[in-house]
Amino acid sequence: MSQYVFVTGTDTGVGKTEFTVALTRWLRANGCPAVALKPLASGDRGDAVRLERAQDGLLPLDWINPWVFERALAPLAAARLEGRRVAIDALIHHIRATAGLGDPVIVEGAGGLLSPMLEKADAPELIAELKARTVVIASNRLGVVNQVRLVWSALSAPSRKWAQIVLMEPARADDSTGANEAMLGEYIDPRRIHGFPRLRKVRAGKVRDAEAARVLSAVCRGLGIRAGGLGG
Ligand SMILES: Nc1ncnc2c1ncn2[C@@H]1O[C@H](COP(=O)(O)OP(=O)(O)OP(=O)(O)O)[C@@H](O)[C@H]1O
Ligand SMILES: [Mg+2]
Repeated sequence: MSQYVFVTGTDTGVGKTEFTVALTRWLRANGCPAVALKPLASGDRGDAVRLERAQDGLLPLDWINPWVFERALAPLAAARLEGRRVAIDALIHHIRATAGLGDPVIVEGAGGLLSPMLEKADAPELIAELKARTVVIASNRLGVVNQVRLVWSALSAPSRKWAQIVLMEPARADDSTGANEAMLGEYIDPRRIHGFPRLRKVRAGKVRDAEAARVLSAVCRGLGIRAGGLGG
């Protein structure tokens, strides 16, 4: 049975897609038949197109991204403007239907963990329902310790069991960047916290950066993923 990895974050624009693309490519290059979805997209389908490439075109774009909204808003707000409503059951059904096509099924969320998602459910409910192993992406700049602790506290204890935190190196470091990982490690088990390097543009379907590969390997160990599926 396939398992689910949910990639969420402290905010929009923190590197969820960057990470999901890198993870998908790295797993596939290492013999793990990972697939990735961006089920809810707002504004454009750029993320879904990147995920399509990362899995070598295995899934069609409409499968990777079944719901796209015109306005670049949180899914709930964008859907309401169009008089549309996505039922959590339909979302879960689509994600579960993907389980026959790859393992793990990696799902990129929309915005941050508590960004308004559906009428009656947000990402924490989806994570719990799928029993998904969660990755929290955050930008490693001033404020990140507070942001990650808030997101962490909004995950249920069972959801936290396998959860991992990725601190994305920002384009420009600030005075806190070098110290945030250790500071956050005073509150959350440091083995779950991973600093992720700034990537050069990835070419030819390969993660070239050895540092990124090392981090992805550690994140996968934390998530309990081994080649061929999830352990634990
Ligand atoms: N580790 C990284 N290396 C290089 N560029 C990065 C990295 N992390 C983030 N970026 C860049 O920062 C920007 C935002 O990242 P990304 O699109 O992955 O964020 P997101 O969390 O997926 O946003 P959204 O909420 O819109 O889905 C992009 O231009 C991305 O290429
Ligand atoms: Mg994205």
